[in-house]
Amino acid sequence: MISLEVNHLSKIYSGETKAIDDVSFKVEPGEGVMLLGHNGSGKSTLFRCITGFEKPTSGSILLNDTDITRLSRSKLRPVRKKVGMVFQNFNLTNNLSVFQNVLFGALGHTKTSFQTFAPFASDALREQAMACLDRVGLAHLARRRADQLSGGQQQRVAIARMLMQEPEIVLADEPIASLDPKAGREVMDLLWEIVSERGLAVICILHQMDVIMEYGDRVIALKDGSLILDEGAGALDRPTLESLYQKDVQLTDRRVS
Ligand SMILES: Nc1ncnc2c1ncn2[C@@H]1O[C@H](COP(=O)(O)OP(=O)(O)OP(=O)(O)O)[C@@H](O)[C@H]1O
Ligand SMILES: [Mg+2]
Repeated sequence: MISLEVNHLSKIYSGETKAIDDVSFKVEPGEGVMLLGHNGSGKSTLFRCITGFEKPTSGSILLNDTDITRLSRSKLRPVRKKVGMVFQNFNLTNNLSVFQNVLFGALGHTKTSFQTFAPFASDALREQAMACLDRVGLAHLARRRADQLSGGQQQRVAIARMLMQEPEIVLADEPIASLDPKAGREVMDLLWEIVSERGLAVICILHQMDVIMEYGDRVIALKDGSLILDEGAGALDRPTLESLYQKDVQLTDRRVS
């Protein structure tokens, strides 16, 4: 399992928007970190830098001891497969089966993408995909088309696909934003169970205060690209978290002692 260290990271888009401004923090294996911040504060950009899809303007990102900002495309590929992603809109291939979607999680592990297509996949890979589906409680829906599931079920399939990838750290970008409260809780419970049984670090972008306080070990917050908070969740209360979304917040005055 890997640790993540972000050092003095900045990202300026096309010479003007400073999406991330000198951000530093470290996440250890097994930590559950909530990432907060208003729209446009740089959260998704930070995730895209960690997955290597965006090149930062300056700073470093260490996954264990490898600075991924300095890797060539080909060297980035094996590192990228260690980072599991969960998205708000699930990112499933809608017209394919649930089983096929989970098999695609193995893409970083096979020599060719061909080997992740159901008719050509090895028995071992197929068994693994079924085990991942079983872990999220959806083995009985393996043959169903992905777009014929409820939102909560689709997100569980996305988690099964992420498991198939065998990640060593997980980034979740608003994983329950498209779900009703009940389905959202079920997805959070499942995600948290899975990361804790595997000892994975997870960083989760969320806006729901009660969910943040219930599940997070630690909270970090961005405002206009800058890190304005990095605290254990136990040291925070709801008004403090809500104040992160106000203008001109003076966090140092609002911390619980
Ligand atoms: N590809 C891009 N090119 C130029 N500017 C971008 C690009 N992506 C994001 N930005 C800008 O960078 C800033 C941070 O955007 P980002 O998407 O990281 O915010 P966010 O915190 O994820 O917001 P949200 O909560 O709405 O998802 C915003 O000002 C946005 O307009
Ligand atoms: Mg975003």
